[in-house]
Amino acid sequence: MSDQHGASRRYLTDFSPEKYIAAFFTPGNNELGSDILAADSVICFLSDAFAGGLLKGKRILDVGSGPCITSAIPASSHFEEIYLSDFAPQNLEFLQKWWRGEMTYMQSIIQFFIDSEHKSESVEERNSEMRRKVKGIFPIDVLKPNPLEPSTEGDFDTIIASLCLEAAATDFDTYVTCLQNVTSLLRPGGYILLVGVLDQSYYDVEGTRFATAKLSKSEVESAIILAGCEVVKTKLMSIINEKRADASGLYYMIGLKK
Ligand SMILES: C[S@@+](CC[C@H](N)C(=O)[O-])C[C@H]1O[C@@H](n2cnc3c(N)ncnc32)[C@H](O)[C@@H]1O
Repeated sequence: MSDQHGASRRYLTDFSPEKYIAAFFTPGNNELGSDILAADSVICFLSDAFAGGLLKGKRILDVGSGPCITSAIPASSHFEEIYLSDFAPQNLEFLQKWWRGEMTYMQSIIQFFIDSEHKSESVEERNSEMRRKVKGIFPIDVLKPNPLEPSTEGDFDTIIASLCLEAAATDFDTYVTCLQNVTSLLRPGGYILLVGVLDQSYYDVEGTRFATAKLSKSEVESAIILAGCEVVKTKLMSIINEKRADASGLYYMIGLKK
């Protein structure tokens, strides 16, 4: 692994899927309905981004899913095939346990998406549909020119990266490289959905600190353009009262690959 992998390498040894879910996606901590904190906002942003109608098609890839099915929940209403991915094997194993039906989690988040889509299905039915539509859970390294190698999957209709690229990169130039690598997996005319944090240099997961690339809104917009895409939608939200990170805000941006 190259020196560029400094930030990523920590995810192999220090990132606990259970602690991440407990810290950011657990009722009574900061799941929907409690205080406005980063993870709640990510879920609201995902819901809003998919409701816009641009993100639909056959195949969608979520890069750096972590231990989360948060992208798969809205994706299952708009895509036929969902691919999840992560750099850390313990996250892939966590996702696979859910995929095999050996555990359920994020039940109230699933219910939130069902309600916001005005559907009447049960959480169990949505879980089954998501498991059926997930066609692969891949190792990925966004620092590699072909992030999914040795898999030859590509030409995705949509790619999501939620809080991943700023975790893999330590600076703007590396962030641009990561985004270029990721968009190489997108078909021309396809969309990239970036959900990320602004001006954040770190976040904490139950006492373990992870460094992130500190980026401004205009730097993220430049990165999208340098990756050969046009910015077609931007939404911003300020983050208040979040003690576990130094971000000033959250954004989502949708880029169209030319
Ligand atoms: C903050 S978590 C984001 C998880 C999830 N997408 C979310 O929105 O909550 C960052 C993720 O990026 C992954 N990651 C770190 N380095 C990476 C790399 N080089 N390639 C792909 N993913 C990487 C980590 O393993 C971790 O799961």
